[in-house]
Amino acid sequence: MRVVRYHEHGGPDVLRIEEADVPTPGDGQVLLRTEAIGVNFIATELRRGSEFFPNRLPAIPLGDVVGTVEAVTSGVTTVSVGDRVAAWGVKEAYADYVVADSAWLRPLPASIDAGAASALASPAQVAYNILRVGRLSPGETVMVHAAAGSIGHLAVQLAKLEGAGTVIATAGSPAKLEFARSLGADVVVDYREPTWPDAVRAAVGDRGVDVVLDSVEGTVFQPSLELLAPFGRLVYYGFAGASGETARASMVDLFGIKYVVGTSFDQWVTHRPEEAEAGLIKLIELVRTGKLRTAVHATLPLTDAAKAHQILENREQLGRVLLVP
Ligand SMILES: NC(=O)c1ccc[n+]([C@@H]2O[C@H](COP(=O)([O-])OP(=O)(O)OC[C@H]3O[C@@H](n4cnc5c(N)ncnc54)[C@H](OP(=O)(O)O)[C@@H]3O)[C@@H](O)[C@H]2O)c1
Repeated sequence: MRVVRYHEHGGPDVLRIEEADVPTPGDGQVLLRTEAIGVNFIATELRRGSEFFPNRLPAIPLGDVVGTVEAVTSGVTTVSVGDRVAAWGVKEAYADYVVADSAWLRPLPASIDAGAASALASPAQVAYNILRVGRLSPGETVMVHAAAGSIGHLAVQLAKLEGAGTVIATAGSPAKLEFARSLGADVVVDYREPTWPDAVRAAVGDRGVDVVLDSVEGTVFQPSLELLAPFGRLVYYGFAGASGETARASMVDLFGIKYVVGTSFDQWVTHRPEEAEAGLIKLIELVRTGKLRTAVHATLPLTDAAKAHQILENREQLGRVLLVP
C-alpha cells in the first residue's frame, strides 16, 4: 500500500509517497480501508517540527480518517467488518490502510458524505467541545477566531445553533469573511487589520464579548482578553499564529472577572466521555438533517499531500481539505 512519509522536518516538500506493508491492528483496534483523510493544521505543525508536540522521524502525518472496517481484533465491540466509520487523530493517517482505536468509533449513516464524515471525526467535535468549555448561555456574544477554518466554520454555526446572540467571526481575508458570513456570522472582522479590536467594540459595545474561541493566539490573544466582558470566558485551544513562545496572560488582566480556560479534545474524551459521546450523537443528527453544513475546500489525491499542506500553510482553506487514495 502507499503511505505519505517524511524523514526530516521541513516544508511540504519533505512529504514523500512510499510503499509500506498494510499495518496490523493491535488489541482493541481496527484496520480501515481509507476513503478520505481530513488534513488537520496540527499535521503541518508536526511536519515543520514543533517544540510543543515533538514527533519521532520518520513519520506518517496524523489525521482524521473516513474508511471502511476491513478487520477487527479481540475486544472490539463498537463496530464490525464492513462498517463505515470516521476515526479522529489516527496516528499514521496518510495511507491506503490505517489502524485506528475502536473505542470511539461508531457506524456512520451511508447518507453522510466523506467531507461531512471527516468533519464529524474531529473538527465538529472540537467545535462542540470548545463551546461547552466556554459555557455558552443563550443570547451571549461569541467571537470565533480563524472562523473560516476546518474547526472555525463549524464553531460559527454551532454557536448559533446553541443559542448565541451575536456571533463575531474573525479571519484573514475578504473571501474568508464572506464565507463566515454565509454560515451565519453576524459580524465579520479582518484580524489582520491592527485596528480589529475597535471593529469588534463598535459592533458589541464597551461591555465586550462573553465567549472567545481562540486557536490563533500570537498577536490576537491579548486584545481578545481585553475584549472579554465581565464574567467572560476565553477558550484557548490552539496557537496557529504564535511565533516562538506561547502567550502569557498577566493575572492582573483577569481582575475584570475574566476566565481563561484551555482545552484539548483528547482530554475531554478522557475525562468526560459521556458528554463527548452525547455531543457526537447530536452532531451526527445536525449533519444528517442539514442543520450543520460542512465545507470541503479541496479534495486532492493522496499523492498531492504536499499540495494539501501548502494550502493550509498559505491560509487559503474555506473549511476542510481532504486527501483521497
Ligand atoms: N485543542 C484541541 O483539542 C484542538 C484539536 C484540533 C485542532 N486544534 C487547533 O485548532 C486550530 C484549528 O485547526 P484546524 O485544523 O481547523 O485549522 P484551520 O483553522 O483550518 O487552519 C488554521 C487557521 O489559523 C489561522 N492562522 C492564523 N495565524 C496563522 C499562521 N501564522 N499560519 C497559519 N495559519 C494561521 C488561519 O486562518 P486565517 O487565514 O483566517 O487567519 C488558518 O486558516 C489549530 O491551531 C489546531 O492546532 C486544537
